[in-house]
Amino acid sequence: MGDFLDNRAIGVFDSGLGGLTVVKQLMKVLPNENIIYFGDTGRVPYGSRSDTAIRRYAGQDVNFLLSNDVKLVVAACGTVSSVAPDVADGLPVPFVDVVQPAARVAAQSTRNGKIGVIGTAATIASGSFERAVHACNPEAQVVHNSCPLFVPLVESGWFDCNDPVVINTVERYLQPIIDAGVDTLILGCTHYPILSDAIASVMGEEVSLINIGIAAANTVANILDCHDIRGHHEHVKNHFFVSDTVRSFEQTASILLGENADFDVEHIDIEQY
Ligand code: DGL
Repeated sequence: MGDFLDNRAIGVFDSGLGGLTVVKQLMKVLPNENIIYFGDTGRVPYGSRSDTAIRRYAGQDVNFLLSNDVKLVVAACGTVSSVAPDVADGLPVPFVDVVQPAARVAAQSTRNGKIGVIGTAATIASGSFERAVHACNPEAQVVHNSCPLFVPLVESGWFDCNDPVVINTVERYLQPIIDAGVDTLILGCTHYPILSDAIASVMGEEVSLINIGIAAANTVANILDCHDIRGHHEHVKNHFFVSDTVRSFEQTASILLGENADFDVEHIDIEQY
């Protein structure tokens, strides 16, 4: 790290609260950086929408973060990273997606060369993770499945691995991946780590689950160093913004990030950006 300190916040966005799994990893890897987060809770889910809609939403999300003078933008959304990576074109600040870093980790960590990918319908249809894995390991065999009910389950607060509705849904989507004999499974949507207890219990402990937030947070740290834009706040205060009601987001964010996390949540009208 150089002597220069850049105390602007890191900007992070997702369709809803799933991107908080990336925020959680950023808080671990970069504990002295402030984060500005936008969760588009009024328009979630993105993953079942057209590419045109996803592109438009992603552009507005990035514009909102830039209007808050962030120093880097993280698309903490597998769907945006897969369908609208061009939202990064011409940005005045560095941009990190969640596909490339996770694909690299999966390609390096598989032992039997069989990698599973789960994500939203739009992510799986885009083939993004498959391409990114093959760019690192052309021999890898990739099997995938979309899991459209996972995001609504998580957004509704249904992620207890003892809940039969949760376990039955997870089993239904993961059976083809289990049958393919993968040893590594990319959770290709940032909502999915919230279901990781249920996913781990269905997949079995010999399968490694790749949390795309961990790989992305490490990439963010590297980029801050490369651009010499690390900051240092003694007391970190994060600002979260949502496009729907504040209250339920606040409650889930406290559960996900732990009671020591200091943040506030505000509502914004994303259509203005
Ligand atoms: N967290 C988003 C992702 O990573 C969820 C997508 C959605 O809103 O459907 O893909």
